[in-house]
Amino acid sequence: MKKLIKRILNWGSPEKYVRKLHENKSYLDAYADHTDTRVAEGDVEKAIGGSWEEMGKLQFDFLVKKGLEPQHKMLDIGCGTLRGGRHFIKHLGSKGYTGFDISAKAIEHGKKLVEKEGLSDKKPELLISKDKNLKFKEFNGREFDFIFAQSVLTHLPPESIEELFENIGNIMNQESVFYFTYFEGDRYEHFSIEDFRYPFSHFESVACDHGFTIENCSHEYQHKIGQKMAAVKKKTEE
Ligand SMILES: C[S@@+](CC[C@H](N)C(=O)[O-])C[C@H]1O[C@@H](n2cnc3c(N)ncnc32)[C@H](O)[C@@H]1O
Repeated sequence: MKKLIKRILNWGSPEKYVRKLHENKSYLDAYADHTDTRVAEGDVEKAIGGSWEEMGKLQFDFLVKKGLEPQHKMLDIGCGTLRGGRHFIKHLGSKGYTGFDISAKAIEHGKKLVEKEGLSDKKPELLISKDKNLKFKEFNGREFDFIFAQSVLTHLPPESIEELFENIGNIMNQESVFYFTYFEGDRYEHFSIEDFRYPFSHFESVACDHGFTIENCSHEYQHKIGQKMAAVKKKTEE
């Protein structure tokens, strides 16, 4: 609390603090610092969007409905402090869950949570994305059945989304599915410091360019503030 008050006095308001961070660093460095700060201040549930129980369960129920079974391998892109991760880890077998995040503090907290919730025997892999790109080099030679990104592309600029689609095929096979949420808009809009809206057609175009099919499955995902859900698969080989 003291730290929070000091920060507000320093910068005038949390919004000014975030703006200042983004003035002085690249977008993802500033975003990671922002999440780090919030986690370090003890704001571990709100740091990644809040609604801890509700949103954790929503993600989990959705993927189980889509066929996530204990023997599957799952990659959680931008896993944060494991709002959904803790449910997935419990459900999956040993080493079934891998999560990574640009926020070192979120990963540190996630590791403690795994211990606290008695899930260490599931041996989840929790990684800090030090270079903060979406090239998936650290997973070279590995394939995941389910890849998930809840409330991550909602915070990503177009160049990061391009990079993601350019590289994600390297960690997918013909059966893999990549599910992600996004904010929908009639046109592209960077509508607050760390939030972006895209038309679905944007994702259709990027997906098609990189050899994927994409399906809008928003009708199956009742997100409380209206994030949409899409499913991406490799185009079937002829
Ligand atoms: C709103 S939080 C959601 C966290 C988690 N998916 C959940 O639903 O609880 C977004 C997370 O994505 C992470 N993130 C954003 N861009 C990322 C990137 N390029 N690579 C890895 N993590 C990223 C942020 O650090 C943050 O922890």
